[in-house]
Amino acid sequence: MSSASPAAAPDTVLVVDFGAQYAQLIARRVREARIYSEIVPSTMPVAEMLARNPKGIILSGGPSSVYAEDAPAIDRALFEAGVPVFGMCYGFQIMATTLGGTVDDNGAREYGRTPLKVTRSGSTLFEGTPDDQSVWMSHGDACSAAPEGFTVTASTDVVPVAAFENDEKKLYGVQYHPEVMHSTHGQQVLEHFLYRGAGIEPTWTTGNVIEEQVALIREQVGDKRAICGLSGGVDSAVAAALVQKAIGDQLTCVYVDHGLMRKGETEQVEKDFVAATGARLVVVDAEKRFLDALAGVSDPETKRKIIGREFIRVFEQAQLEIMQEEGPDVAFLVQGTLYPDVVESGGGTGTANIKSHHNVGGLPDDIEFELVEPLRQLFKDEVRMVGQELGLPDEIVQRQPFPGPGLGIRIVGEVTKDRLDLLREADAIAREELSAAGLDREIWQCPVVLLADVRSVGVQGDGRTYGHPIVLRPVSSEDAMTADWTRMPYDVLAKISTRITNEVADVNRVVLDVTSKPPGTIEWE
Ligand code: XMP
Repeated sequence: MSSASPAAAPDTVLVVDFGAQYAQLIARRVREARIYSEIVPSTMPVAEMLARNPKGIILSGGPSSVYAEDAPAIDRALFEAGVPVFGMCYGFQIMATTLGGTVDDNGAREYGRTPLKVTRSGSTLFEGTPDDQSVWMSHGDACSAAPEGFTVTASTDVVPVAAFENDEKKLYGVQYHPEVMHSTHGQQVLEHFLYRGAGIEPTWTTGNVIEEQVALIREQVGDKRAICGLSGGVDSAVAAALVQKAIGDQLTCVYVDHGLMRKGETEQVEKDFVAATGARLVVVDAEKRFLDALAGVSDPETKRKIIGREFIRVFEQAQLEIMQEEGPDVAFLVQGTLYPDVVESGGGTGTANIKSHHNVGGLPDDIEFELVEPLRQLFKDEVRMVGQELGLPDEIVQRQPFPGPGLGIRIVGEVTKDRLDLLREADAIAREELSAAGLDREIWQCPVVLLADVRSVGVQGDGRTYGHPIVLRPVSSEDAMTADWTRMPYDVLAKISTRITNEVADVNRVVLDVTSKPPGTIEWE
């Protein structure tokens, strides 16, 4: 790309959020169909939705009954604007009632997997799908009569109108949740709406995202300079790589080595990231500073506060040094904010500023940076795809979640250099064996924890030992909000246990954490 003007906005589908957690999943499914989607609250005026020039609108499910007093409504104008609309679950019912159909509480509750009978197999939504399919239901009220002009296209044993469409007006609806995996032909039905109903071409790809963002970043930053803090995680690495692609050496990356990283991770940033992107990187070796600050501290909250505080101090000092070297043109701070964070903090598309305070002479006390957030529109899996396309190594792009305070919160007890080294070894063994067994995708993350304040008796070689236990905490999860312990193969556990007790001095016991979240958190701290 040589032009500095932004690429044309992609065809967009708006997902109207009626309050449950389905909207994000729907938006992801639309993007899986290679069409760009954005989530908007159901309280947004219809005129504002239409002003975004959507090529289609999806009404999500939600927790309310359409007849509840405080049930979110939708302006009829939405259905009269000529924009194709697809209602799902609550969205289906609100569409039915708004357009004159009947929804009532006839006792026809359905939750979970439900058989669906397609009654119009050639319909826009169901063409090419089987007459009998399994769908995911979650409703109390049910639609008993479709609005005038609509054709009923499917039913269930208890719900006469489980799907309808008005092809002429481009309005479609299903009582169930096509976005969840349990609806066996859900994605196909969604794609039928997008491609056949709304007539949108599937042209949105991560390649487009890169092109679009590169143009936007160039426009935003101009000939000024930017700083990006790298944490070793996926998001900051991909954000930095995108900005690097756009503005090259106008970007300086800063990596604070706090000494709490896992084995090999600092090298990944120092060598592999730089090799893949050509980015200018400043590494601040702050291990001693962090360990001094953590000396004698066992309380987890205090540890977190100390690590957070030291991190900001070290990062700001590095910022200042860069500014002193490069002059006042350093006006931008790159951050790896993702779309779920944007949605959860109330949406918004504007650019924010961030104030940086410090007490070092030579520059004003308050410096205001404008934020560059090139991942604001993306979900995590899309960020990984962008990273891959930008040539970042798999070790960075496919990295499992790792807490900012690092191994500092995986040592229960005081954090010391010796204990960190010990934990790093044990953690490296566990990671190596999990990868060798092909479990990286199945396991969301596997914290390895050192119980530094616990000792127990063991026997190793000819002697009695009094060593520390290591805890393995493999969890399966969708989003880390809830998690279950992973039922991983005994032989892999056995291998990890044998290797850790043989190879890591002062560890004579390996235990498996079999607690789900809740009640247990993923990290021990
Ligand atoms: P918990 O322990 O609360 O962890 O079940 C949920 C998820 O968050 C990660 N985690 C953090 N990530 N900074 C981070 O960037 C942190 O301070 C932090 N603490 C926990 C944890 O690894 C898990 O994925």
